[in-house]
Amino acid sequence: MKKIPLLDLSYQHEPLKKQILETITKVIDSGHFILGEEVREFEETIASYVNVRHAIGVASGSDALFLSLLALDIGPGEGVIVPSYTFFATAGAVARAGATPVFADIDYESYNIDPSFLEKFIEENCEVTYKGLYDRKHKVIIRAIIPVHLFGQTAEMEPLVHLAKRYNLKIIEDAAQSLGAEYQGEKVGSIGTAGIFSFFPTKNLGGMGDGGMIVTDDDDLAEKIRILRVHGSKPKYFHKLTGINSRLDAIHAAILKVKFSHMEEWIEARRKNAHYYKKLFVESGLGCEGKSEKCRVKLPMECPYSRHTYNQFVVRVERRDELKKFLEENGVSTAIYYPLPLHLQEAFSHLGYREGDLLESERASKETLTLPVYPGLTESDIEYIVDLFIKFYQQ
Ligand SMILES: Cc1ncc(COP(=O)(O)O)c(C=O)c1O
Repeated sequence: MKKIPLLDLSYQHEPLKKQILETITKVIDSGHFILGEEVREFEETIASYVNVRHAIGVASGSDALFLSLLALDIGPGEGVIVPSYTFFATAGAVARAGATPVFADIDYESYNIDPSFLEKFIEENCEVTYKGLYDRKHKVIIRAIIPVHLFGQTAEMEPLVHLAKRYNLKIIEDAAQSLGAEYQGEKVGSIGTAGIFSFFPTKNLGGMGDGGMIVTDDDDLAEKIRILRVHGSKPKYFHKLTGINSRLDAIHAAILKVKFSHMEEWIEARRKNAHYYKKLFVESGLGCEGKSEKCRVKLPMECPYSRHTYNQFVVRVERRDELKKFLEENGVSTAIYYPLPLHLQEAFSHLGYREGDLLESERASKETLTLPVYPGLTESDIEYIVDLFIKFYQQ
């Protein structure tokens, strides 16, 4: 029986092992492990790739979100709009800053925040006051939106930018899963007030440990984040602000720099795998794209405004849990991202959300299944997986 993991990083690491080890040795020999040249060079690499003025390396994507909120002075009594269907970190950072996550529903096809939901929410629940946009329901002033570019695809930014301008809201793009994705030709992270990336090993650019980055065009904001990541100190031991210790390690930056030069080719490999899945699913008669079509396997849409990087290949299926078990029994690992939307998580129970409040987020949690799509997955692996789907639905 074939064994196909959800993710296999050996395809990326085996050919680069020697170069990575040399890089690590260089850092060890330099004796410089915190920030310094390696981090600065990697920050410049990312800033130039994303086409922004500043990139600031921090300890994780979660910290990148938290520090962005802190730098924007978002805290108690204030609300931040986040999609409910995302990894916990998006809303966790808001809570950690002392602010209130205001959950928005997602679009059925893109799995990203639904701008029309947001427009309706604001119209029905909010009013413009001298302090800003007041959300009567949650009793907070809404300060920002965090659109998540989920699974490697961009959120629909234009209407969100429009809302942000209209109501004086900041936008922090959560591009943890989507480095390299594009919205109407612009790299994600470059559209909002700030954008964040994660270098968690499973991401488009995965490190060998935790790491994250904040990008922005705003000089003052960048300077503030640089200070906040070193306990608010500038100069050293003189603290302007209360920050945290959150820095990208020199060793990680050096490794990421080596890996970055292959990232585009890995993204292309992900895209190729995704297209091959789609072709086979459609030919089998099981798969289709789009909400209006009827089929057993809803394929991930590549929205017209987006360059999808397929950090995850997520399908909507009938009999999801049974199918997952069947694939596992036949050697194929899959995952459920995410089994419970954030508005129904125990950690947010005090916010008073109930089942039925955000229907698309709840539906996605019950119907989606994530299949292997990593670079290095072969055509024969994909054929094997689609054949298993065919067998399963013939039962
Ligand atoms: C959407 C999203 N936001 C934020 C994060 C947090 O990133 P990190 O794991 O680097 O803290 C993740 C990581 O999985 C994520 O998927």
